[in-house]
Amino acid sequence: MTDTDVPLSPADLLARLTLEEKASLLDGSDFWHTQPVERLGVPALMVTDGPHGLRKQSGEGDHLGLNASVPATCFPPAAGLASSWDVELLQRVGEALGRETRAEKVSVLLGPGVNMKRSPLCGRNFEYFSEDPVLAGDLAAALVAGVQSQGVGTSLKHFAANNQETQRMTISVDVDERTLREIYLTAFERVVTKAQPWTVMCSYNRINGVYASEDPWLLTRVLREEWGFDGLVVSDWGAVNVREDGVRAGLDLEMPSSSGAGTQRILDAVEAGTLSIETLDAAVLNVLNLVEKSRAALADPGTFDVDAHHALAREAATRSAVLLKNEQDVLPLAPTGGTVAVVGEFARTPRYQGAGSSQVNPTRLDDALSALRAQFHGAREVVFAAGYEPENEDANAELVAEAVATSAAAEVVVLFLGLPASYESEGYDREHTNLPPVQLDLLDRVVAANPNVVVVLANGSVVNLEPWQHSVKAILEGWLGGQAGGGAIADLLSGVANPSGRLAETIPVNYRDNPTVGNFPGEQGHVRYGEGLLIGYRWYDTRSLPVAAAFGHGLSYTTFAYSGLRLAAGEDGLDVHVTITNSGDVAGSEVVQVYVSDTEASVARPEQELKGFSRVTLEPGESREVVVTLDERAFSFWHSTARRWVVEGGEFGIRVGASSRDIRLATTVELPGDGVVTPLALDSEAGEWLAHPVAGDRVRGALAGTPWEEMLFDPHNGQMMRAIPLVRLTRFPGFPIAETELPGLLADAS
Ligand code: BGC
Repeated sequence: MTDTDVPLSPADLLARLTLEEKASLLDGSDFWHTQPVERLGVPALMVTDGPHGLRKQSGEGDHLGLNASVPATCFPPAAGLASSWDVELLQRVGEALGRETRAEKVSVLLGPGVNMKRSPLCGRNFEYFSEDPVLAGDLAAALVAGVQSQGVGTSLKHFAANNQETQRMTISVDVDERTLREIYLTAFERVVTKAQPWTVMCSYNRINGVYASEDPWLLTRVLREEWGFDGLVVSDWGAVNVREDGVRAGLDLEMPSSSGAGTQRILDAVEAGTLSIETLDAAVLNVLNLVEKSRAALADPGTFDVDAHHALAREAATRSAVLLKNEQDVLPLAPTGGTVAVVGEFARTPRYQGAGSSQVNPTRLDDALSALRAQFHGAREVVFAAGYEPENEDANAELVAEAVATSAAAEVVVLFLGLPASYESEGYDREHTNLPPVQLDLLDRVVAANPNVVVVLANGSVVNLEPWQHSVKAILEGWLGGQAGGGAIADLLSGVANPSGRLAETIPVNYRDNPTVGNFPGEQGHVRYGEGLLIGYRWYDTRSLPVAAAFGHGLSYTTFAYSGLRLAAGEDGLDVHVTITNSGDVAGSEVVQVYVSDTEASVARPEQELKGFSRVTLEPGESREVVVTLDERAFSFWHSTARRWVVEGGEFGIRVGASSRDIRLATTVELPGDGVVTPLALDSEAGEWLAHPVAGDRVRGALAGTPWEEMLFDPHNGQMMRAIPLVRLTRFPGFPIAETELPGLLADAS
């Protein structure tokens, strides 16, 4: 019963709620619903996973993907979508997800997850976008904008630094602030500032010892005060530690229901005076605002077109696949010709999504084998041999023999390999990056039987390509393609579609080259991000390490020429103009990548960093100018002492290319910098005092003409002298500045 027909505004509701009702609103009512307050017309909202499809459980709820859910379109998970580097596509996929969410009367889709792929072993990498925060952030922002354009919300997760599954509920991520800011928070920041997700989900882990769910710096200072987030913060399912500490830190809603325990703790804390009513009200208001935003969609859920969404899922999978290798143009397969042997169980029984909370019950499921048969119907014979059983670690001799015979008799072999579902899932990390031995053995046998082998991969996180990649003609990385992935693979193999995906993560030659080796997954409750900023290609490129496939790499059935690189001041920053020409015979899409390097910085910086990209589709012979804007942040680093973003004056390299290892054009730009002044302290080194724009002159003046001047600027010993804190030099006999003068100098300088 409500006492009014028109819903009350959040402020009016807040004024009428009792203390008990307020506290109850900060808790779930079951696995997937918030609490209602019926007397005031506050409905219980439903939130469900995501993120690459809706996982709305119809019966018994759980958050681990155990119980069935209503059919929904299963788009490619983020590992695939990210490889499209296609902001416009992500927006459309988001809109479709939003329509399905709305049609099911769900108010918030629990995703996307924008955690960085720090280690290739993270069990949830299939759900995450990239090892690069700009790419992850911009793609996820488009997805969020798309979903929310349909009047339903998203939950940006897992905030923050949830980069592994081992001990995910308790591990302390030990990481310096600069690394956090430049790598692990950036994707979140981009999504929040560009798309304002309705909710943000805090992660399970701790950061430098503090649970994300009770970290005021993370949840309030950075998220709300610095980035301007105005939505609701929800706990990951079971991430609450001490409930009232969470509320104080900025964690509004506990999910799933704490069965009243959280509510009671909040009430007790209010009564004890350790939680203020103002803090409680602020959290309640965030819940009420979410209810308010959700009302329109709940009143008019609408429907969606299952076929159209399936077609979009196919388009998305097509754009997500990455052609890693294509020797002698073995692909696309000619429309007519000899027998095509399709080998591998994954061609018939696709592996198309990961396991755990994101597992979607698809509306239908395409397999590549049927799609290829349909594609070549009447023109080429397509024969099949399963070759292996995905979850069986022992080879099945009969299947292998059949696969070898089938391969030997064919003109070309398309061999479907990939990770069994049990290899990658939420809840645990991978043990290695190799394909199963059974599949690798089969590969060797097939290659020996037929030199024309095309490998199609199905995996949510990178697999080791060495040394076998040299024995096959082509590799198409299909990722986990979602429910229409099979059709997409057939389109790409047959040339109906031109591959256009690009790697959103580096494939190392060997897992041991990865910078986290030795610091993953941590020990005794701590994981140390010792590689700092040098995650993914930032590491491989800074170290000049060979890689199996570079970040940003991906081939096409056509070629692209780059020309006319020029820089111009634009409205929002520095515009990088470059002309791309389709120099081949078929239409195709190129992803233009802009990397910035700052090799003369006063702090260590990665060799180069992706700061912008643009996807362009061109007919054969067509040229188009692409413009990528670099804003101030593209040149900044996080200054650990000044504790702010800083652009340091000097020269920056602008590199434009088709991957981090395929730079086609480069130029430089001189920037004035924003004149950051490192704050001085009494014990700052003499060199720091001398470099200070105000104090420096005063110190130099006092030294002038004394032997100390000579010593401090001596070409040999000066460096050692300047590294002595000024305060200690003042106590040396004969030093021309007295210790007592320093506080005054310091005050004048600040
Ligand atoms: C996962 C979240 C998910 C939640 C609800 C958690 O275990 O980490 O990503 O949204 O469960 O299912």
